[in-house]
Amino acid sequence: MSKAFQATNAVVTGASSGIGRSIAVALAHAGVERLVVHYRVNRSGAMDTADAVRELGCEPVVLEADLSSPEGPQRLASDAFDALGIVHTWVNNAGADVLTGAASSMDFESKLRHLLDVDLTGTILLSRMVADRLLSQLEKRKTTDPPSMVFIGWDQAMEGMEGDAGQMFGPVKSAVMAFANSLAQSIAPSVRVNTIAPGWIRTAWGEETSDYWNERAKGQSLMKRWGCADDIARAVIYVADPENTFLTAQTIPLNGGFDRRF
Ligand SMILES: NC(=O)c1ccc[n+]([C@@H]2O[C@H](COP(=O)([O-])OP(=O)(O)OC[C@H]3O[C@@H](n4cnc5c(N)ncnc54)[C@H](OP(=O)(O)O)[C@@H]3O)[C@@H](O)[C@H]2O)c1
Repeated sequence: MSKAFQATNAVVTGASSGIGRSIAVALAHAGVERLVVHYRVNRSGAMDTADAVRELGCEPVVLEADLSSPEGPQRLASDAFDALGIVHTWVNNAGADVLTGAASSMDFESKLRHLLDVDLTGTILLSRMVADRLLSQLEKRKTTDPPSMVFIGWDQAMEGMEGDAGQMFGPVKSAVMAFANSLAQSIAPSVRVNTIAPGWIRTAWGEETSDYWNERAKGQSLMKRWGCADDIARAVIYVADPENTFLTAQTIPLNGGFDRRF
């Protein structure tokens, strides 16, 4: 396998489970040398991810930060660049889980405000600080290789989906994707910015969901299966590939092809 990411450093936010862990492992597999594994509360999950990337020859740096706290985004940006020096790939994957655990019993307004705090405000504030640092590292090092940032959206955010989930994740993830597009316009050609918009991916929520959602997730994909975290990780590797220097400002839905047949 080509090691396109050899001698590069990467950061994956929300890498203590699910999609973030798969992205971290895929980056390590692709040759990333040093990788920040970020988490909020799931330290043992972050350590498992760190062990998995270490086994692939990549040196992990485990960092904690709550993106909804006033100091979280600033601290993560500083700590990550202090630890790695130069960053080549930054993946904004962290997102609040309001579908499982204690948060699933919150009312609609509390879930919405939490998603806005973490997925939107936290991600935007963090990304602006990261973008500044990526630009200044290029100036200092006088290199022209564009580093890359990757965001995670949602395939149905713009089209809309019925119910509470559609009404909270739709506006939040649409805004994340809109921000990513504006950031891409702001920092090109120095930094590439792309978004992967997953469909139904079987992570914690999918493991314990109802028969209805299980059937719906499979039925709405032309490939007639749930997506898995590795499907998303492969797409992140593609857009972040340092050799993919013509790829920026794109949003790629990854859902097995949304089934629109009657
Ligand atoms: N699964 C799907 O079907 C699907 C579809 C579309 C988009 N997405 C998006 O894909 C991303 C990953 O989802 P997933 O399914 O892999 O979920 P997950 O397993 O719950 O992972 C979420 C990650 O985000 C971190 N996180 C949560 N709240 C945080 C906070 N306040 N500050 C910092 N980090 C925080 C978690 O860290 P701790 O656990 O350590 O707190 C965890 O590492 C999310 O942005 C999600 O919205 C998922």
